[in-house]
Amino acid sequence: MKIRAAVLEEFGAPLVVQELDLAEPGPGEVLVRVVACGVCHTDLYTASGADPSGYAPTVLGHEGGGVVEVLGDHVSDLAVGDHVVTLFSPQCRECIHCLSDRTNLCLAIREQQGNGFMPDGTARLSRGGEPIRHFMGTSTFAEYTVMPSIALAKINPEAPLEAACLFACGLSTGLGAAINTAKVEAGSTCVVFGAGMVGLGAVAGCRLQGAERIVCVDLSQDRLELARGQGATDVMVGDEHSVERILEMTGGFGADYTFEATGSVAVMRQAVESARMGWGLCTVTGVAGKGETLDFVPRFLITGRRVAGSSFGGVKGRDQVPQFVERYLAGEIDVEAFLSHRITLDQVNEGFELMEHQDGIRSVIGFG
Ligand SMILES: NC(=O)c1ccc[n+]([C@@H]2O[C@H](COP(=O)([O-])OP(=O)(O)OC[C@H]3O[C@@H](n4cnc5c(N)ncnc54)[C@H](O)[C@@H]3O)[C@@H](O)[C@H]2O)c1
Ligand SMILES: [Zn+2]
Ligand SMILES: [Zn+2]
Repeated sequence: MKIRAAVLEEFGAPLVVQELDLAEPGPGEVLVRVVACGVCHTDLYTASGADPSGYAPTVLGHEGGGVVEVLGDHVSDLAVGDHVVTLFSPQCRECIHCLSDRTNLCLAIREQQGNGFMPDGTARLSRGGEPIRHFMGTSTFAEYTVMPSIALAKINPEAPLEAACLFACGLSTGLGAAINTAKVEAGSTCVVFGAGMVGLGAVAGCRLQGAERIVCVDLSQDRLELARGQGATDVMVGDEHSVERILEMTGGFGADYTFEATGSVAVMRQAVESARMGWGLCTVTGVAGKGETLDFVPRFLITGRRVAGSSFGGVKGRDQVPQFVERYLAGEIDVEAFLSHRITLDQVNEGFELMEHQDGIRSVIGFG
């Protein structure tokens, strides 16, 4: 079939919206009509050429929400008409990692997904007979996409897809960092560095876990206001003295749980240093620049602090994304606050510009 999609033709150049061919779903695959898709930093990071594993041409986009249109052979757990959120982090429910409750890093299709192909090593996207590679296994800057069924979370159809699609990436990452990775305990003190989509999700996750005190640190007053809306009890403009101020606020000890959601290794260090002696846990979610390292004095570990990393918030997507959507529908998670701009596919490059200017949290493409 013919579809319209935003193609990354060359790094550093605007995406070009154009017509492409999309083949039918193969065995274990599903055709999804994309209804809404968030524009995320990872799309821009790849488009800019900064991502060493990036490639072009490809169709970007990975925060999709849509409706199942056609099932490939052997797909039994989805039906035509189901509402789904796309998962760049799939869940096969069979590999050694899926069977463990200690990780969400499914091993089933990692290599082919990373190379831009469906699990059988071929692409469904093409142009004039030439294959075009998929991106993150999703390629949702398009009217339709073909995806493996293990990478689709079936959600409650009552949830508006323009909001539900935000659970495809940053929001679930932040929520999961607090709920799954740190397992924040009720009554505790938390500090979240960064108030973008991930940090705000972490603030919400700490609140849902019953944290008593949630301090959010960011450089932007506007974003700190949003953090208050998500449940932050204290907000602070970050600088080189952030750690001292957090120690002052916590009787000299530091916080039970700290979260880094900035991508800056200097802030990661602050997050480690503001975790409490004895049991403080620092959860790192930010993606650092190529070659950067995290530097801190090992004594912080000997005196009882721990550091954990978190990919997609430890969320096993097919199980937990539908649960997050239910909590959103129940009024526990304010997703609308993140939906800053509604744009069309043709405006995708403007979505990148809004992001570069930190204008709002998320621009969401609606496909009408
Ligand atoms: N682990 C994962 O699976 C995963 C998933 C999505 C995104 N990420 C990463 O998480 C990070 C955050 O993503 P995002 O979409 O929320 O980004 P974002 O750019 O919207 O937010 C980052 C925030 O950090 C703030 N910040 C920068 N320097 C700071 C400082 N010195 N002190 C305090 N705050 C500071 C900025 O003002 C900004 O609000 C990025 O590195 C992103 O690549 C990781
Ligand atoms: Zn993303
Ligand atoms: Zn798996």
